[in-house]
Amino acid sequence: MTQLSVAIIGTGTIARIHADALLNLGDGRSGDRGGSGDRGGSGDRAKVVAAADIDPDRLREFCSRYGIAECRGGLAGLLDDGPPDLVVVCTPPGAHAGQALSCLRAGSSVLVEKPPALSLAELQEMADAERPGGPWLATVFQHRFGSGARRLRTMIDSGVLGRPLLAVCHTLWFRDQAYFDAPWRGRWDTEGGGPTIGHGIHQMDLLAYLLGDWTEVSALARRQTRQMETEDLSLASVTFASGAVASVVNSVLSPREESYLRFDFERATVELRHRYGYRDEDWQITPAPGHEAVVTAAWAAGERGVPSGHRAQYAAVLASLRGRTAPPVTSADALRTMQLVAGIYASAAGGQPVRPEDLGPDSPFYQRMDGSGARW
Ligand SMILES: NC(=O)c1ccc[n+]([C@@H]2O[C@H](COP(=O)([O-])OP(=O)(O)OC[C@H]3O[C@@H](n4cnc5c(N)ncnc54)[C@H](O)[C@@H]3O)[C@@H](O)[C@H]2O)c1
Repeated sequence: MTQLSVAIIGTGTIARIHADALLNLGDGRSGDRGGSGDRGGSGDRAKVVAAADIDPDRLREFCSRYGIAECRGGLAGLLDDGPPDLVVVCTPPGAHAGQALSCLRAGSSVLVEKPPALSLAELQEMADAERPGGPWLATVFQHRFGSGARRLRTMIDSGVLGRPLLAVCHTLWFRDQAYFDAPWRGRWDTEGGGPTIGHGIHQMDLLAYLLGDWTEVSALARRQTRQMETEDLSLASVTFASGAVASVVNSVLSPREESYLRFDFERATVELRHRYGYRDEDWQITPAPGHEAVVTAAWAAGERGVPSGHRAQYAAVLASLRGRTAPPVTSADALRTMQLVAGIYASAAGGQPVRPEDLGPDSPFYQRMDGSGARW
């Protein structure tokens, strides 16, 4: 088995989740502490060979904690002699596009944290730097990879649930004012927006993964109380190509935090309640009258035991890279989710429904999530 070389740029909060996930790969199943477990970041699948950060103290502490030999102040040097197989971009969103482009052009595939970019324009440029046989761009949307989501996706594909009719996709989180004191948060130029692009994007990506292409969105956004440039909540109704409709809420003002997804199919309701990550127990299925036996049997037969999270996504990403195929979540999938984000901002700003075709390169919302910036 080929051991892939990995570099991490940005060694703050989320980088530790990545490093821990890479150390504990196993097969991504709950309780499995596979991989070598050695603090040098080596495993049979991937080895963290380098890390970079502009903050020297944070970098030193990270490298020492994970036994990483090559530590740099930036990408310079890191890509020069033998670019790593994969660079993981864990910097603030405003740095993602430039860093991902440098890596892709040097020949390294990229796994970029959400949101992958500040705008559709940036993300399209990143996607254009991919090559058919690699390097590729993948985005971290870790909630696609738990067994619950995969089981539901299999059941949707099999037709056992019937048509999707209605969905609820609520990200009701709480971030106090101090959270937005971090210089890059809550600003269009550095975070790309507020909870729509920064927090609810996780649930909206899962919604799109399960329900497919969207065709129209109507939205409003408000800044109710936080002192920042962007919205602190948004509400949207979304229509999908299948005819299903969804209610979407993205909030950082909700003291009782919950991530809630609900899907009403013809033959069952499927619900997911969690906060920042789910296990099998967080899913609930309620068959429609007359469909109990077939729905319950299909649910019981599905995949189990994988919590959502970075480790589960790494298992899929590294398997794809070893198989020389584009790793998930692909740039096409990330573009669809980012287009829904842009659609919410465009509709909220213009007070009109927005369709994907309204968000082409001529739209101001293609260039920036706040469009011209005039209304915010
Ligand atoms: N997938 C998830 O569940 C999840 C959770 C939290 C954060 N994130 C995402 O992860 C990214 C980072 O968030 P965080 O909370 O770790 O932020 P953070 O501020 O804790 O860490 C960012 C690090 O990047 C470094 N940095 C900044 N600019 C840099 C540059 N140009 N070059 C090199 N290093 C640079 C900083 O010094 C800092 O150490 C964001 O995109 C965020 O949205 C994802």
